[in-house]
Amino acid sequence: MKTFKIAVIAGDGIGPEVLAEGIKVLNKVAEKDGGFRFEFTHFPWGCQYYLETGKMMPDDGIDTLRQFDAIYLGAVGFPGVPDHISLWDLLLRIRKSFDQYVNIRPVILLDGAPCPLKDVKKEDINMLYIRENSEGEYAGAGDWLYKGKPHEVVLQNGVFSRVGTERIIRYAYEEARKQGRSLTSISKGNALNYSMVFWDEIFKEVGKEYPDVKTYSYLVDAAAMFMVKDPKRFEVVVTSNLFGDILTDLGAAISGGMGLAAGANVNPERKYPSMFEPIHGSAPDIAGQGKANPLASIWSASQMLDFFGYEKWGAELIRIIEQVMVEKNALTPDMNGHATTSEVGDEVVRKVDELRIG
Ligand code: NAD
Ligand code: IPM
Ligand code: MN
Repeated sequence: MKTFKIAVIAGDGIGPEVLAEGIKVLNKVAEKDGGFRFEFTHFPWGCQYYLETGKMMPDDGIDTLRQFDAIYLGAVGFPGVPDHISLWDLLLRIRKSFDQYVNIRPVILLDGAPCPLKDVKKEDINMLYIRENSEGEYAGAGDWLYKGKPHEVVLQNGVFSRVGTERIIRYAYEEARKQGRSLTSISKGNALNYSMVFWDEIFKEVGKEYPDVKTYSYLVDAAAMFMVKDPKRFEVVVTSNLFGDILTDLGAAISGGMGLAAGANVNPERKYPSMFEPIHGSAPDIAGQGKANPLASIWSASQMLDFFGYEKWGAELIRIIEQVMVEKNALTPDMNGHATTSEVGDEVVRKVDELRIG
């Protein structure tokens, strides 16, 4: 039987709470299918580990992860460890070391999901964000000069390579072509007169190979406005690392909240493991209280199933998430329910169990 080896980095805050539910669901899916199984290996890396060892993960952590088929991650970051250390030494290190340059973040209004926008129908919010995930504003290039002096200077350089920009834009064109949908590029060439002018040029250049794909180009400020005022404009979207980070939290807000939004960090060449995670953080404000919504981590489990070629199961999990939200019997407080994290997970597991297969 096919065995998928999954490295589990539950991480901090609500990370372990929500991942436990995703793992329950994946195990039930495998049991139900009968044709594959998961082998989960847990790594205790994160802020607690840092406080004990001075490191977010061991020095050979990346080598250890290399042998896995995928990584399932909860959340990283907690008060007590500076965020730029915890995130750079674990989450961002994995994304970069494994060249997970595509961050796939669906912004889709599922049935039953709470939406704060007026007069918006389900069909109006159906976007696929493709966020550059390896460089750009997150290149980590810069300097801090004359620290503490009156003429202190900090530099944070955006790095947009031709290879890096072309490959993410080409990936997005391919996806738009495959889906038969339009492609929107979001940038900021009016103010960022090197990086984003370059981005826009490459978007046009690569687009010549895809005359069949209808394209739009927005400035990021206007894009943020249109996501709220007229979200149906957006279908497949490609954007830079930082803009994609910010706009997908906005996307989460208009399509069910942080408790529902998922993301896949993909190395398309499959040379290295890809990583699946909810897009939310460790939510210190609700950690340890059983209030965290596990649906985002379950949606990312669905993305993992898609990635392994079990698209039917991926779609089945999305249908079940919709059912759970429509029925409202087991929802966490962020969705105006009274259920605990594990009660929501149990409900999803029960629905997987009840499916008639074949
Ligand atoms: P956050 O996403 O953790 O929380 C923002 C708000 O959303 C909070 O009110 C929180 O309670 C709520 N929320 C988030 N996930 C939820 C869920 N599953 N169910 C119900 N409510 C949920 O963002 P933040 O507070 O800005 O960051 C907290 C920490 O997490 C920081 O250290 C930050 O750097 C880190 N972070 C990590 C990741 C990651 O690991 N991928 C992502 C974002 C932030
Ligand atoms: C995300 C997170 C990360 C990012 C942080 C924690 C570094 O916000 O995955 O959206 O900005 O990519
Ligand atoms: Mn984010």
